[in-house]
Amino acid sequence: MTQKEALDILKMGHNVFLTGSAGSGKTFLLNQYIDYLRKKKIGIGITASTGVAATHMNGVTIHSWSGMGIKDNLTDYDMQKLLKRRHLKKNFKKTKVLVIDEISMLHHFQLDMVDKICRAFKQKQEPFGGIQVILCGDFFQLPPVNREDDKVCFVNESDIWPNMNLKVCYLREQHRHGNDELTKVLNDIRTGSAGEQTQETLRKRCLSSNTGVTMTKLYTHNVDVDAINNVELGKLKGKPMLYTMVSRGNQKLVEILKKNCLASEQLILKEDALVMFVKNNFEENYVNGTLGKVVGFNGNGLPIVKTNRGKIIHVNHKNWTIEENGKVLAEITQLPLRLAWAITVHKSQGMTLDAAEIDLSKSFVEGMGYVALSRVRSLDGLKLVGLNNMALKVNEDVLELDKELKKRSGDARQNLNKLLVGKKGEEQKEFLDSIIEKTAEDKTSNNGKTYSVEEINKTYPAAYKKWTEDEEKELLNAFSGGMAIKSIAKSLGRQTGGIRSRLKKLGKIE
Ligand SMILES: Nc1ncnc2c1ncn2[C@@H]1O[C@H](COP(=O)(O)OP(=O)(O)OP(=O)(O)O)[C@@H](O)[C@H]1O
Ligand SMILES: [Mg+2]
Repeated sequence: MTQKEALDILKMGHNVFLTGSAGSGKTFLLNQYIDYLRKKKIGIGITASTGVAATHMNGVTIHSWSGMGIKDNLTDYDMQKLLKRRHLKKNFKKTKVLVIDEISMLHHFQLDMVDKICRAFKQKQEPFGGIQVILCGDFFQLPPVNREDDKVCFVNESDIWPNMNLKVCYLREQHRHGNDELTKVLNDIRTGSAGEQTQETLRKRCLSSNTGVTMTKLYTHNVDVDAINNVELGKLKGKPMLYTMVSRGNQKLVEILKKNCLASEQLILKEDALVMFVKNNFEENYVNGTLGKVVGFNGNGLPIVKTNRGKIIHVNHKNWTIEENGKVLAEITQLPLRLAWAITVHKSQGMTLDAAEIDLSKSFVEGMGYVALSRVRSLDGLKLVGLNNMALKVNEDVLELDKELKKRSGDARQNLNKLLVGKKGEEQKEFLDSIIEKTAEDKTSNNGKTYSVEEINKTYPAAYKKWTEDEEKELLNAFSGGMAIKSIAKSLGRQTGGIRSRLKKLGKIE
């Protein structure tokens, strides 16, 4: 399906699984839909499974947005506490649409937790409390980070997935890679047919010398990433500044915090160091995943960072805490930064890179090679450091699932074409606009009734139909004669929203 067709399906208010190969433009399309909703002043939750992926849409992690954090389940006590959080209440009140990108890395039980939280806030029993949910991602890419020995499990195994009435949109375009050898390599991996020839093509990239361009270094393991970052830091001439993590409270919980917060216990920075933020802070203009460079230090010795988007941020120490019943049980304090010359393949998912140095010699899960190699635009931008057998593998179950997703996408496309038949240009736009406005109004406030054009037409026979000249005349006459909008709607067989939007279009009301 094309991006345009998928966008039309999104605009119809369905829950959607937006998928397609790496670089097919899924996130690009999400951004288009986000812009569209913003113009219509429809509240959106913009999230992804990792902080870096969320930055591609100026969003936050789904963990932080929903309030579930790093928990594996939600007790009644957790729920009560969440429901009292002011900013969550405010957020949920306005949210009509929720976008979650890089869904392959979200655990199935986490999607169920998000559903539980949404229902509780919206006080509605339908999936996600009636919020339109767009799950976006590609199951050929990385699965959730698993506890040892666990079987790989994607969100399609969640309890809520089969109840979401998801329309599948499978994008078949390619926008990141040109039609070159890299595309062939990636397609071979994706179809499970990467053999000797694919390896041969890739091994040639092991010999490629450094061309002088800055290459982002992608490594599979955190220890290697740390080692490379330290080597790069060592090359800088500036004065090293050391920041040591401070902790207090229950030692066991402190260790959990240290493991999950991504900040380093000993952080050394120098001017020109590449860094990544590891915490959300909206007032100070950064989120988990924001990349930048240290451009200096202030009078207190704290770093000043210029982000890749050009914002200057004076970085202060931040706290990470574990609380219970309002009491802080453990707390750590550190600058919310880590070095970023090298990053893990997990964090790179969703990125487009001009050039990358990639080490796949220790790949440990299916999809890892596919994600890493699909970040660059062409083989010219790739320097391969190593490749093991796991690197080119994909999950067998996903190969099967992929067939079903393609079929469902074909069905969704056919249905869309049926609905849009005979509607062109402006008329098609109006039709889709009216649906999303109606959806946003109704889906989260109509006591759980599911919405469909056919259903609405039973009560309002002319709803969503093209306006004729005669009807328009009747509308204008009635309106200028002082007739109430509700009565006009009744006499024309339309909904009050439809009448209002027509009057707006005709310049009669604001
Ligand atoms: N319609 C388009 N016009 C121009 N550029 C596009 C279009 N669609 C996508 N791109 C560009 O192509 C690149 C890949 O797109 P994007 O990151 O959205 O792909 P993706 O499907 O989300 O990939 P991944 O699975 O790796 O996250 C980006 O640089 C994006 O800006
Ligand atoms: Mg993407």
